[in-house]
Amino acid sequence: MIGGYQKRNFWKWLRSFYKNEPYSLWKTNNWKRWFRNSSYTLKSDFLTTGPKIKEFEDAICKYTGAKYSIAVSNGTAALHLASLVLLNKNDKVLTTPNSFLATSNSILYAGAKPIFVDITNDGLIDLDLCEEYLKKDSSIKAIYAVSFSGKMLNQEKLKYLKDTYNIKILEDNAHSIGATFNNIKAGNCANSDMSIFSFHPVKHITTGEGGAITTNFKKYYEKLLPKKPKNYWGRNLLWFEKN
Ligand SMILES: Cc1ncc(COP(=O)(O)O)c(C=O)c1O
Repeated sequence: MIGGYQKRNFWKWLRSFYKNEPYSLWKTNNWKRWFRNSSYTLKSDFLTTGPKIKEFEDAICKYTGAKYSIAVSNGTAALHLASLVLLNKNDKVLTTPNSFLATSNSILYAGAKPIFVDITNDGLIDLDLCEEYLKKDSSIKAIYAVSFSGKMLNQEKLKYLKDTYNIKILEDNAHSIGATFNNIKAGNCANSDMSIFSFHPVKHITTGEGGAITTNFKKYYEKLLPKKPKNYWGRNLLWFEKN
């Protein structure tokens, strides 16, 4: 039986779809496909971390052009795992203050130290200012740059900084799947070590909650795989990689 309280909440919940309450709201332009795919997974033996994950990872690689992709539970987890692989304790990392806190928190999770660099008018980290920091301090090991709101960073400048100062670069593409810069797709990692995506419902595409890491380096991929929460499919992948 539904009581008055639940009924009122139900109508409130239903009304929220017509009001301007976008947080976590999502829609699909292909309900049939959505039902077919999600019911396939719900009926399968793997509710999570099953073969559909591998399919999804392959689709990310195909779309972005990156060699390797790892799907994880959200963008924060993607940043966390990436940081555990890319950074060492006490590394200094240049990053942007114009981001969700997961970007800089992930640096702290790895025991490294974020240094905030100012942004330019387009909301992106100022790469010229980054160079000033790099010139002065050779103990800076990485840049964590956010492609803010679908705007990618200048890829030529990223490549220049990476090659000249021998630093690691992580592109936080949480809100930028589908973005391009000179035909380089976000997540392609043409000029970075790793990139991450978020598939939270406020992002361009959603998996409910979800995230992914992409990279072109096998050494990173091999280090990332065992850090994923243990699951049969992940273990199989690792086994296949090794044998
Ligand atoms: C730039 C950026 N990075 C990382 C994240 C974290 O993603 P998630 O919410 O999937 O953990 C967000 C989330 O809004 C974000 O905006």
